[in-house]
Amino acid sequence: MALNKAKVITVTSVKGGTGKTTTVLNLAGVLANLNKKVVILDLDLYSGSVAASLNLDKGSDIFTMCEDMMNNRFQTFDKYVAPYNEYIDVIASPLDPRNVNKIKANYIEIILSRLILKYEYIIIDTNHIIDNLNLVVLDQSDTVLYTITNDLMDLKNMKTMVSIFKDMQLNNFKIILNEARLNNTSYSKEDVKSLIGAPVDYVLPKNFYNKNIEKFVFEGKIMILDKSIASSKGGSTLEKIIKDIIKE
Ligand SMILES: Nc1ncnc2c1ncn2[C@@H]1O[C@H](COP(=O)(O)OP(=O)(O)OP(=O)(O)O)[C@@H](O)[C@H]1O
Ligand SMILES: [Mg+2]
Repeated sequence: MALNKAKVITVTSVKGGTGKTTTVLNLAGVLANLNKKVVILDLDLYSGSVAASLNLDKGSDIFTMCEDMMNNRFQTFDKYVAPYNEYIDVIASPLDPRNVNKIKANYIEIILSRLILKYEYIIIDTNHIIDNLNLVVLDQSDTVLYTITNDLMDLKNMKTMVSIFKDMQLNNFKIILNEARLNNTSYSKEDVKSLIGAPVDYVLPKNFYNKNIEKFVFEGKIMILDKSIASSKGGSTLEKIIKDIIKE
């Protein structure tokens, strides 16, 4: 029997604070609503916030996992994975930032190869830095989602990234224009397309801005698991992203 392998979705950006983590959580929420088993891997190693956003405190994290692997004492995934609900599991970023530089990209590759056999979807949160680890992660991803804002510096940096992707003949990336993140819509979808040299695949509309987001974070809740948010325009965009990925 052929083994089903998880699809790897990485959410990244060319600038901090563009809405990656919020998007990661909501995409996991969409998958959960579709009864798909997903693990969120928080590889924003220095300032990961997935576990904290969901009020999860497993006491072990991606560093513990790598360290146990290096020392041949890796146990079952249950030791490292924090369940959020029936469908969503989380592997936290290092709880102690002093451990970050001990994490090696080749162990992340091994961990990914194992997670792929255990889940239907892996969603990876990242930081916006192009380092060796992120390059390995991009290489292992089926879909790379870039969240960008209406900020000109963000758009200029995205233009550079688009030309790098074109140079490398990579076309598995999609661009999400997050209008909910900045209260600034000086550039339309068409403007953004000509500024960055690639089409905008999805738009998270301005009205997806949620003034109560801190309440969700405080309570460890995922926005899109709220029915009214799921049925909003932004909710439908996130659902479309997942449905497109499922079809691929
Ligand atoms: N739809 C939204 N409505 C209200 N606030 C939002 C929304 N999306 C994101 N934010 C807020 O914007 C800030 C940045 O969002 P988020 O943490 O998702 O971005 P990020 O790209 O992961 O940031 P970083 O690069 O620091 O990891 C957070 O304080 C978050 O709560
Ligand atoms: Mg983040």
